[in-house]
Amino acid sequence: MSCTIIVGGFFGDEGKGKIVAHIAHHDHPSIISRGGVGPNAGHTVLVGEKSYGVRMVPSGFVYPRSRLMIGTGVLVDPRIFLHEIDLVHVRDRTFIDKRCGIIEPDHIARDKGSDHLAKTIGSTGSGCGPANSDRVMRTSRLARDVPELEQFLVDVPEEINGALNRGDNVLLEGTQGFGISLYYGTYPFVTSKDTSASQIAADNGVGPTRIDDVIVVFKAYPTRVGEGPFSTELSRDRSDAMGIQEFGTVTHRQRRIGEWDGSMARYSAMINGCTQAAITGIDRVDKDCFGVTDFSKLSVKARDFLAMAEDDIGVPVTLISTGPELSQIIDMRDV
Ligand code: IMP
Ligand code: MG
Repeated sequence: MSCTIIVGGFFGDEGKGKIVAHIAHHDHPSIISRGGVGPNAGHTVLVGEKSYGVRMVPSGFVYPRSRLMIGTGVLVDPRIFLHEIDLVHVRDRTFIDKRCGIIEPDHIARDKGSDHLAKTIGSTGSGCGPANSDRVMRTSRLARDVPELEQFLVDVPEEINGALNRGDNVLLEGTQGFGISLYYGTYPFVTSKDTSASQIAADNGVGPTRIDDVIVVFKAYPTRVGEGPFSTELSRDRSDAMGIQEFGTVTHRQRRIGEWDGSMARYSAMINGCTQAAITGIDRVDKDCFGVTDFSKLSVKARDFLAMAEDDIGVPVTLISTGPELSQIIDMRDV
């Protein structure tokens, strides 16, 4: 049995969803459970011809055999949750911890209000900051207080720890990224909670002694949405010239693009307790690496980059994503 946490090493949007999906298809976890803040996170998925931004359902839903859970620490917006479970057809296998905090319309209004977080720090306006604030003030409703959620309620820690006792694999997926952690990020330009691996374990009620692996996902060219410092940021002209353009899943804002930040990678790996690293977007380091599935077929330029990254992070890079599709990956975990 093994319990693996997957978190983002930079400012979010590192491509965690794809890494979760890949690992799920290989390791067959019986549960994939989400930690992190709430519906401020987004994951873009293709359903038929259309693409949708999923914000409450764990990104591991693309693996059809896992039960999907939302951990105790996560904020739930019931309207978004109820919409998404039917959108991606996971109503029968998705569960919420009974103690999740609830996002009310008033939280969204407060987040978006004229002198509020959307303006000052560039929050996503999804209500997470005000909802976490109410939760801390102990005035928040919890999932158990919402009749529409009743059929989905479980005790997530009981489910996960029970699965681990039976010898199952479990995946805990983080959202956001290290750089926007309330504790370790670029305060005040951060989200309303810690985003490190320890927080993801706590969000799911899994004690630190039960975690076997922490996979930190780093993007070859990190991105940041919203305001705040970004020391390796490239000018828009530079990143446009390199053909790199990205837009946020939740807010559709254009993401800021930067170069690899070795000291941030090292610090992030330390606090996350990284045991293995994943690098996404290696095809941006060298276009010839697009879609490569065999390490020996990577170019010298890409391999030099990976050697540098591995040196910064201090643990082996075991997963290398070479394109957006699930199959476009090099997995060296068992080599
Ligand atoms: P909030 O979490 O909506 O309050 O936003 C606070 C900051 O974190 C803003 O700069 C957001 O753009 C950023 N942020 C929140 N969630 C994510 C995410 O999932 N990916 C990337 N940035 C995020
Ligand atoms: Mg995202």
